[in-house]
Amino acid sequence: MSRAGVALVLLLSVLGLAAVTAEDPYLFFEWNITYGTISPIGVPQRVILINGQFPGPDINATSNNNVIVNVFNFLDEPFLISWNGVQQRKNSWQDGMAGTNCPILPGQNFTYKFQVKDQIGSFYYFPSLRMHKAAGGYGGLRIHSRLLIPVPFDPPADDYTVMVGDWYNKDHAVLAKILDKGRSIGIPAGILINGKPGKDNDEDPQFVMEAGKVYRYRICNVGIKSSVNFRIQGHSMKLVEMDGSHTVQNLYDSLDVHVGQCYSVLVTADQAPGDYYIVASSRFIKKKELVATAVIRYAGSNTPPSAVLPRAPAGWAWSFNQWRSFRWNLTASAARPNPQGSYHYGNINITRTIKLVSSRVSVDGKTRYALNGVSHVDTETPLKLVEYFGIADKFFNYSIIGDEPTPETPMTIAPNVLNVEFRTYVEIILENPEKSVQAYHLNGYSFFLVGMGPGKWTPESRKTYNSLDAVSRHAVHVFPKSWSAIMLTFDNAGMWNLRSELWERRYLGQQLYISVVSPARSLRDEYNLPETAMLCGSVVGTPKPTPYT
Ligand SMILES: *[C@@H]1O[C@H](CO)[C@@H](O)[C@H](O)[C@H]1NC(C)=O
Ligand SMILES: *[C@@H]1O[C@H](CO)[C@@H](O)[C@H](O)[C@H]1NC(C)=O
Ligand SMILES: *[C@@H]1O[C@H](CO)[C@@H](O)[C@H](O)[C@H]1NC(C)=O
Ligand SMILES: *[C@@H]1O[C@H](CO)[C@@H](O)[C@H](O)[C@H]1NC(C)=O
Ligand SMILES: *[C@@H]1O[C@H](CO)[C@@H](O)[C@H](O)[C@H]1NC(C)=O
Ligand SMILES: *[C@@H]1O[C@H](CO)[C@@H](O)[C@H](O)[C@H]1NC(C)=O
Repeated sequence: MSRAGVALVLLLSVLGLAAVTAEDPYLFFEWNITYGTISPIGVPQRVILINGQFPGPDINATSNNNVIVNVFNFLDEPFLISWNGVQQRKNSWQDGMAGTNCPILPGQNFTYKFQVKDQIGSFYYFPSLRMHKAAGGYGGLRIHSRLLIPVPFDPPADDYTVMVGDWYNKDHAVLAKILDKGRSIGIPAGILINGKPGKDNDEDPQFVMEAGKVYRYRICNVGIKSSVNFRIQGHSMKLVEMDGSHTVQNLYDSLDVHVGQCYSVLVTADQAPGDYYIVASSRFIKKKELVATAVIRYAGSNTPPSAVLPRAPAGWAWSFNQWRSFRWNLTASAARPNPQGSYHYGNINITRTIKLVSSRVSVDGKTRYALNGVSHVDTETPLKLVEYFGIADKFFNYSIIGDEPTPETPMTIAPNVLNVEFRTYVEIILENPEKSVQAYHLNGYSFFLVGMGPGKWTPESRKTYNSLDAVSRHAVHVFPKSWSAIMLTFDNAGMWNLRSELWERRYLGQQLYISVVSPARSLRDEYNLPETAMLCGSVVGTPKPTPYT
């Protein structure tokens, strides 16, 4: 064996890398999580920094890379990071949710080890506990196609991360306290683009383009409440990718990006040299439109941008029609974003339909949010761990919600865990009886967002599904008083969070976990609990179960 080979084997054994593949390259990161005081919108406040940065550093990966991130928690609270859209195949141990990982305690560190297997596209990471996401701690995560795998467009001259999101000028702990009291955190104070509000400030350009060249912008909505409309003065955007799938390349003047969603667009610098505003504005907040800007500069130019900002479209119908125009490019030969099962998803027989209806309720005078009448609470010992150690029945019952809501049952506050049989093909209907837009995210999978419609879903609604070229993605929005339908094969064993991306709702219970257990207890289906995994609560000192083989 070569010296490099010996070194690699040594390194692997030191790191105890059971869950990563030796052939694929490694990316190593060391992240210090600290508080810092900055004034994103004029008010000094405490934010979460990663290596002193807000937003945090980009992870620039290629399909199948092994990503190793040693996270040091210098906060005064337990902390976890989750990797939005990274499927963590067989590996919910690295998913970084309260239901899957023990938290990194203050002063401690934990090393995430995962492979970005068979995925391409634009994603982000975020702090998953409490209301930390309202304090920053997020950043971009991109996965390039491997060399030799054709990409359905020419390499852009540059590739920009655009983290867009609403922002509250209150500390995350204050926001959590407001919610603990059962009150609302209200509407956000502003919108940020890569941590900055733009506009009145004397803005430096965030992005530079050379005349005639084509640039990729990866736009993710990392906010906690508002859908955002994204547009660029004088330029149209060619949509090429969303949530990890190459799309049919339509041109758009503006895009509605709902919370938790990521879009890649190509922008050609085909206008008169000068500065142009990027505009991101809140959608569907009645009281006021919140607006952020960022400047794109044509290299060498010093013409200031026009003060006249392009306006956002109005109304729901526009947004619905835009969603209907999104199509998966079936001939693009990228790593299939949805490796499970066939992509001829329209021909697979549905084995189970689960209808989840969101609700807002008052319990002892305090607001809670629920799915099918159950408002989730985390267990102190993560759900995945008590399941793995065989003591789940002491902590929760599976599927206490039915596959449809039952109006008679009173609202329950309890750990909400659905079990789904391994490898079955399931249709999930998300129904939103409320007046505001909803957004959901499912960890561990991408799914086909096949349909949306007004009112209540009925089996007849299936006739309106796109059963040919719906985009495979990991985030879904639901318009007010409407439903959305997704379909997927549950072939990724693990414990996976399905949550409202509206953080206030999620914090107050509008989330659940889906337990997918492979009865084979085989390493083919799921990795063992890593040797280095953090243990906490009831599984400390409990004998480990027989490992999978
Ligand atoms: C993280 O903090 C430690 C201790 O303060 C310091 O030694 C190290 O250089 C920091 N690492 C990074 C990447 O900033
Ligand atoms: C990101 O990775 C790609 C593919 O390896 C590479 O071409 C590009 O230069 C990298 N970008 C940065 C900013 O490191
Ligand atoms: C914590 O960081 C140290 C120093 O880099 C490393 O050796 C150790 O493995 C890390 N601990 C965990 C649990 O990842
Ligand atoms: C889909 O991808 C193919 C293959 O890369 C590409 O040639 C084609 O232009 C794309 N089609 C559309 C409609 O975007
Ligand atoms: C789906 O179900 C129908 C009716 O039960 C059956 O005839 C058909 O063969 C099934 N198709 C597949 C792909 O399993
Ligand atoms: C599970 O359900 C049974 C039967 O309703 C109940 O007795 C038990 O307390 C429940 N367990 C938990 C942990 O909630």
